[in-house]
Amino acid sequence: MNILILGSGGREHALAWKLAQSPEAKQIFIAPGNAGTALTGTNVPINPTDFEALKTFVIEKEVEMVVVGPEIPLINGISDFFKQDKLLHDIRVVGPGSKGAQLEGSKDFAKHFMKKYGIPTAAYATFTAETVKEGEKFLETLHPPYVLKADGPAAGKGVLILDNLDAAKTELQNMLLKAKFGKASGKVVIEEYLNGIELSVFILTDGKDYLLLPEAKDYKRIGMGDTGPNTGGMGSVSPVPFANEIFMQKVKEQIIEPTLQGLQEENIPYTGFIFFGLMNVNDNPYVIEYNCRMGDPEAESVIPRIKNDLLEVFDNLTQGKLSESNLEIDERYAASVMLVSEGYPGKYQTGKVIKGLDNLNNCIVYYAGTSRDVEHDQMKTSGGRVLAITAFGDTLKEALQNAYSNVEQINFEGKYYRQDLGFDLQ
Ligand code: AMP
Ligand code: GLY
Repeated sequence: MNILILGSGGREHALAWKLAQSPEAKQIFIAPGNAGTALTGTNVPINPTDFEALKTFVIEKEVEMVVVGPEIPLINGISDFFKQDKLLHDIRVVGPGSKGAQLEGSKDFAKHFMKKYGIPTAAYATFTAETVKEGEKFLETLHPPYVLKADGPAAGKGVLILDNLDAAKTELQNMLLKAKFGKASGKVVIEEYLNGIELSVFILTDGKDYLLLPEAKDYKRIGMGDTGPNTGGMGSVSPVPFANEIFMQKVKEQIIEPTLQGLQEENIPYTGFIFFGLMNVNDNPYVIEYNCRMGDPEAESVIPRIKNDLLEVFDNLTQGKLSESNLEIDERYAASVMLVSEGYPGKYQTGKVIKGLDNLNNCIVYYAGTSRDVEHDQMKTSGGRVLAITAFGDTLKEALQNAYSNVEQINFEGKYYRQDLGFDLQ
C-alpha cells in the first residue's frame, strides 16, 4: 500500500519510521516532511492544507492511505474533503472529519461537550467581544491564577495563565477586543485553575471501539524545573509511573468512554487519534484539553513502544473494525529528549551543521526541524525543535540515561535541551 503522511515534525518522522516497518507498506510519502523523513520515505513539497494539490498527488501516486499528523488539516476538513470527492472517497484517512476535530478546534465546543456528557474538567464560562464586561465580572468571582483560553487554534500559544486579576482583565480585553490571537480569540474560555500534574493519554478509535495507547508525559516549558515560556514540547517519557491501574480505570470510565458515547450521541463519526490532555488532581483525572491527533513530542516515546504492525492497525481502524486489533506494548520505559535551537521558543538561528549523528548507539533519532545540505552532504538545523533522541530502559532513570548519553554526542551551534526530564516522576 502507498501511504501519504502529512506534517513535518518529529511525530511524522516517528509515524513514517513505524509504518515503514510494515511488510504491507510500499511507498511512503511525507508532505512536506523533513530531513529525517527523507531517510525513511519520499518527501513531497506540498502544504498539508492545500487539498487540491494533495488530491492531484494521491491520484497520480496511487496512494491508498493518508495519515494526518497535525491538527490544522483536520480542522480544515481534509477528511471530509476526501470522503466527499468521487475520486478520493475510497482512500483511507487516519484522522477525524472537521466536526470531530472541533474537539481541538474550538475550546468552547470541547468544554460544552464535556459539560453535557459529565466529563470531569475545570469549571468555565465563555465570553465574546459583546460580553467582555461579564467576563471581567466572572474573573472577579475566581481565585488566582486565572486561566484564559482563545477558543480557536493558536499554534499552542492561545492559553494565558495569570496571577493578577488586573492583568487577567487586560488580557481578556486584548484577546476579545484587540484580536490578540486573531480570529482564534473571537471567543475566550475562562476557566478554573487546576492544581496537579499533567499527563497525555491517547486512543485510536473508529467511533465504536478504541485501543488505548501507552500514556506519556510531555515537558512543555523551556526551562529546568518547568520554568519559562511554553514550547511545542521539550521531550517526553512513557509510561507515566503515577498512571497506575486504578488511575487509568478512572480515565477509561470517566473520560474515554463518555467521550466516545458523546460523539455517537452527537452523530459525529470519528476515525483517528484522540489525545486527552489530563491533569491528575489528587488521583482524579480532569480533561485540560482534547486534541484530534497524536502529540508531539509524545509520539516519539509512545510509537516506539508499540510492537504491532501499525499499518495493520490503521487498516482495521479505517475499515471500522478496530475491534480486530489488540495492541502489544513494550514494557520498557522510553524517554525522548528534544534538542532545540538556542533562543527557541523565541527567535533562533537556523542553518547550523549537526555533527555527531554517526556516534550514536542504543537510541532512535527522530528528526524535526532539519534539512539536508545535499551539496556538502550535511544535516543542518532548520527549525526551533531540531531532533528528538529516544532511548529505552528497564527503569525511567535508565531510559533517560541512555537518551542523555546520546544527546551529548550530538553537536550544533546553539544546541539546547532540558537536562531534567522526568524530574517530577522519580
Ligand atoms: P492547552 O493549550 O489547553 O494544553 O493549555 C496549555 C497549558 O496550560 C496546559 O498544558 C496546562 O499546563 C496549562 N493549563 C491549561 N488549562 C489549565 C487549567 N485549567 N488549570 C491549570 N493549568 C492549565
Ligand atoms: N505535546 C503537546 C501537543 O502535541 O499538543
